[in-house]
Amino acid sequence: MKVGVLTGGGDCPGLNPAIRGIVFRAIDYGDEVIGFEEGWNGLLEGKTMKLSLNDVDQIIGQGGTILFTSRTNPFKVERGPERILENLHKFSIDALVAIGGDDTLGVALRLSKLGVHVVGVPKTMDNDLSGSDFTFGFDTSVEVAVDALTRLRDTAKSHKRIIVLEVMGREAGWVALYTGIAGGADWILVPEDNIDFDAMCKHLKKDFERKEYALVVVSEGINLPVEEQGEVDQFGHTLLRKRGVGDLIADIIAEKTGISTRSAAIGHIQRGGPPSVFDRMLATRLGAKAIDMIHEEEFGKMSALKGNEIITIPLEEATGQIKYVSKEWIEFMRIFLK
Ligand code: F6P
Repeated sequence: MKVGVLTGGGDCPGLNPAIRGIVFRAIDYGDEVIGFEEGWNGLLEGKTMKLSLNDVDQIIGQGGTILFTSRTNPFKVERGPERILENLHKFSIDALVAIGGDDTLGVALRLSKLGVHVVGVPKTMDNDLSGSDFTFGFDTSVEVAVDALTRLRDTAKSHKRIIVLEVMGREAGWVALYTGIAGGADWILVPEDNIDFDAMCKHLKKDFERKEYALVVVSEGINLPVEEQGEVDQFGHTLLRKRGVGDLIADIIAEKTGISTRSAAIGHIQRGGPPSVFDRMLATRLGAKAIDMIHEEEFGKMSALKGNEIITIPLEEATGQIKYVSKEWIEFMRIFLK
């Protein structure tokens, strides 16, 4: 078979191990694999890349994606779906593997309904994709954010300050929740929780009296009590980094507590660097499974992690509904805000 592969949406650590897993497994079946560059844009434009054993052998520890990526939505482009079908035919692609999050896999689902033989591999540092217990990219990016918080602790302690760390994660609070608990933050703000600024500041004042510093982790996607209008991408997502919630929260804390407060936004630093062992293993397993799925004709589905098993689930179940932080998790989080 001739298999096409693409990576779409934001890059994250684990994409290269997933591509490698696909190519290694494809060799077992005697398949040829080619990559399409820059996500769905590569399929629209016919931009391809050879993917042989030699091309992927040494990329297990590399962050980003050798296939490049974009946030192109072919359904927002003139004759987008038609051009994709034409190129699949032109390059004699028997089946396609789309590696991505909700947006990329949503496009894969729509194409599968048009008859394309497509399977999905889930990724996102936000960990907000339904149907998979974890997505690769999340573990590494949280590790980076915890490291950042650890460094901020030194400065907060030395200067007797409060420091706010803003992390990514979009409308789901998984990244902030894990960073805050694993990094020992004194307050954590996630989009799924109601924000009570008075309670937060009262608590931080108490913390400050006890240990003369405090750390706050805030998710970029929290609801703010102000009206906002921001730039949106082709999938309708607002560019959350531009809201500057970290600065905003730091100003509120400084004003309400009178304590010197600073903020830092980790931004895209969180998305780069070598994937953790967990992400390498997960990505490799999910990628290899995608090739098995193609040979079992499980089209319109994606590989996913359930417990410690790699299973397959319909793309329909995974896309269109964000996996939010549950009430139980928020209650658990509160145990550590003392
Ligand atoms: O979805 C991954 C993510 O890193 C989000 O956490 C963040 O809001 C967004 O991508 C940033 O997108 P971009 O790289 O296009 O600025």
